[in-house]
Amino acid sequence: MALCPKSVLVTGANRGIGLEFVRQFLALKTPPKFIFACCRAPDNAADLKSIAEKSPSVHVVKLDVTNDSTIDGARGYVESIVGADGLNLLINNAAVGVRKSLQEVTREEMRRHFEANAIGPLMVARALLPLLKQAASLSPDAPMSCSRAAIINISTGVASISENSSGGSYAYRPSKAALNMITTNLALELKEDGILATAVHPGWVKTEMGGPNALIDTGESITKMMSVLAKLQGEEGTGKFYHGVRGDLIGW
Ligand SMILES: NC(=O)c1ccc[n+]([C@@H]2O[C@H](COP(=O)([O-])OP(=O)(O)OC[C@H]3O[C@@H](n4cnc5c(N)ncnc54)[C@H](OP(=O)(O)O)[C@@H]3O)[C@@H](O)[C@H]2O)c1
Repeated sequence: MALCPKSVLVTGANRGIGLEFVRQFLALKTPPKFIFACCRAPDNAADLKSIAEKSPSVHVVKLDVTNDSTIDGARGYVESIVGADGLNLLINNAAVGVRKSLQEVTREEMRRHFEANAIGPLMVARALLPLLKQAASLSPDAPMSCSRAAIINISTGVASISENSSGGSYAYRPSKAALNMITTNLALELKEDGILATAVHPGWVKTEMGGPNALIDTGESITKMMSVLAKLQGEEGTGKFYHGVRGDLIGW
């Protein structure tokens, strides 16, 4: 199965995994007509702007996942561009991740992680839902897929409760475990609209968050995740927690 959404929106697209998603969507055999590369500060997003200058399909859009007015602004902009085609694929990628031990963690750090990693993606998904529903309605007989209409939440293996063997990261782990629960809720609720919702772990990746000792670079992570995304189909593909590099499921 090919991954061929007509439109995709990626949050946190100015660096790391989000930026590489933009590069690899552009490089697809059938690239999306519209790539909405969202970031908090477009003026400072030099790499993204240089891609957009050469690729008219890339739209750099301001979107801070913790700020509702930027979410509404982004939704309005996307709607004005995609029109009746709606939006096929939302990749909730933006996140913060700082390791905090039991002694170090504060209320403020807990709130900051939940805002960016769980509440933000939920609010972005809800705001974009009418556009995803519109895209899904255009191919009523097709199975759910990332080419038809989907929400992909970029999670992390350390969000797994059943596979937690080392502890720590008191703010990051629970915020992503909450995102996983949001993912299963969305999958259950949106099935009848033909919208797929699944969580994907990108592997341990060399980015600012992953650090220099990580196992793989963004190129390898995204190439492998894209081949997982291409295979997600129908009931089998929704409400799952995938290891995006190995391609198998992670226990919740
Ligand atoms: N790297 C890994 O090993 C690894 C492992 C497991 C899961 N992940 C997940 O993969 C995703 C991408 O991580 P990464 O490694 O690429 O991290 P990164 O290099 O730290 O990039 C994080 C991105 O999120 C953006 N962001 C943070 N808060 C935001 C907000 N409130 N609104 C909008 N954008 C915001 C950042 O924008 P600014 O530049 O404005 O800060 C940046 O673009 C995250 O969901 C992360 O949890 C990563």
